Amino acid sequence: MKPIRAILLSMCVLTGAALAQDKPVQVNIDASKAGAKIDRHIFGQFAEHLGRGIYEGVWVGPDSPIPNTRGIRNDVVAALKDLKVPNVRWPGGCFADEYHWRNGIGPRDQRPATLNPNWGGVIEPNAFGTHEYMDFLAQIGAEAYLSINVGSGTPAEAADWLEYMTTPQPTALAKQRAANGHPEPFKVPILGIGNENWGCGGSMTPDFYVSQLKIYARYARNYNPAQQMRRIAVGPDTADTSYTEAVMAAWKNKTWAWDIEGISLHFYTVVKFPPTFKATGFGETEYATLLKETRRMEDLLRTHTAIMDKHDPAKKVLLAVDEWGAWLAPTPGSPEGFLEQQNSQRDALIAALNFNTFTRHADRVRIANIAQMVNVLQAMIFTNKEKMLLTPTYHVFKMYVPFQDAVSVPISVDAGNYTHGDISLPRVDAIAARDARGALWVALTNLDPTKTAKVDLGVAGAKATRARGETLTAPRVDSVNTFEAPRTVAPKAFTAKASGGKLVLELAPASVTVVTLE
Ligand code: AHR
Repeated sequence: MKPIRAILLSMCVLTGAALAQDKPVQVNIDASKAGAKIDRHIFGQFAEHLGRGIYEGVWVGPDSPIPNTRGIRNDVVAALKDLKVPNVRWPGGCFADEYHWRNGIGPRDQRPATLNPNWGGVIEPNAFGTHEYMDFLAQIGAEAYLSINVGSGTPAEAADWLEYMTTPQPTALAKQRAANGHPEPFKVPILGIGNENWGCGGSMTPDFYVSQLKIYARYARNYNPAQQMRRIAVGPDTADTSYTEAVMAAWKNKTWAWDIEGISLHFYTVVKFPPTFKATGFGETEYATLLKETRRMEDLLRTHTAIMDKHDPAKKVLLAVDEWGAWLAPTPGSPEGFLEQQNSQRDALIAALNFNTFTRHADRVRIANIAQMVNVLQAMIFTNKEKMLLTPTYHVFKMYVPFQDAVSVPISVDAGNYTHGDISLPRVDAIAARDARGALWVALTNLDPTKTAKVDLGVAGAKATRARGETLTAPRVDSVNTFEAPRTVAPKAFTAKASGGKLVLELAPASVTVVTLE
């Protein structure tokens, strides 16, 4: 039997549009002003060798009956192309600090079978290695964000990998690359120096990591003059500031011999580990709790950027939130360690709130990567053999494409609060930006799961008589897409007209709406 709370919530959500509305939300944008550029790299993806993320999710092999191009599934590539994925972080995650790149090059039938102790202890066939990753990036039009092994590797191994990939000169490693099918150097525009070295990457103290960082940042060189490479140091775990302090202090006193261009932050919407929040069949308390937890991102960015500002007031070093997203209880019956979870309308809101937060910190947050791309954690895509399914989170990524490299526009939101028990959150969260063609875009999230939000949108510095775009709503906050019902949560066309000098928008309960102003 359904818990009474869930029944009540579903009744509320189903009839939300008909319920009484609070006073209109006042949103104002000033189109004559410009804020920071919203770097397209904040819409990055993360694909680790974990569960069915790579194997089955991306790689099926050239002999698979599933349509593929050189082993990479065509349906997943087509779906990702529509997201204009800027970068894919790979091969991990915790996996990166146990990955030895030489196992993943050369003829595939000669590659060794190794183990993946972090994630289910399964066999790692090494069929998807450097060349397959680069081919996948080329197929979807994304850039590399490669994490090197600091935890269990050596500086020499990392240096060799960079030389193998990037040198245009005829060195032995470059010749090996050519013999393996790629005479031209690969591009590695973003390099992660380790992963969570405070945890699965070797439990290093901040000072010990900084010593390693200096070595790796020096020797893991980019030899491809056709591109710049940004090096990202490991940074904080959630609220712990010790790595932020240590890395930034070291950077401030850096010598000619090493440098970095960024520092990473990992923060999951999880509340506590091990994750217990259900992916489906949850009530309003769980919904509100996870939205509140997501909003912690704002505080974390403020905390860590304050430390960064102290050491780097010119904001040269970027903050890469290179693991974020909802980490929920695993799908019952899924293999241990595969981190499989369903993806609901609530998760779509979690994605939108994170994008809005990154945008508000766009002067510092210039890279971000959702965990993870396919079949793992807050995924864009699920696969089941030859079938593929797009999640609510996928739709939010697609709706936000116009914000890639757009320039943020100042916005004020006077929304009042959505309150549930002792949780109180701003009822509506919104961002605005101007794209390269000059078009204005506004993204609005109505957090309230029971009430429609009527928004009066005022636009200064531009004439706007109509808003047109898409809205993502769902019958319930825990609605999901399934292989049987793949469009339960899918965007619908949305329009709004001007009245009394303002645009009037009606945002459905628990919805994400993206419009362009005309
Ligand atoms: O995304 C799953 C794991 O979470 C990553 O491997 C690790 O970096 C983090 O703890």
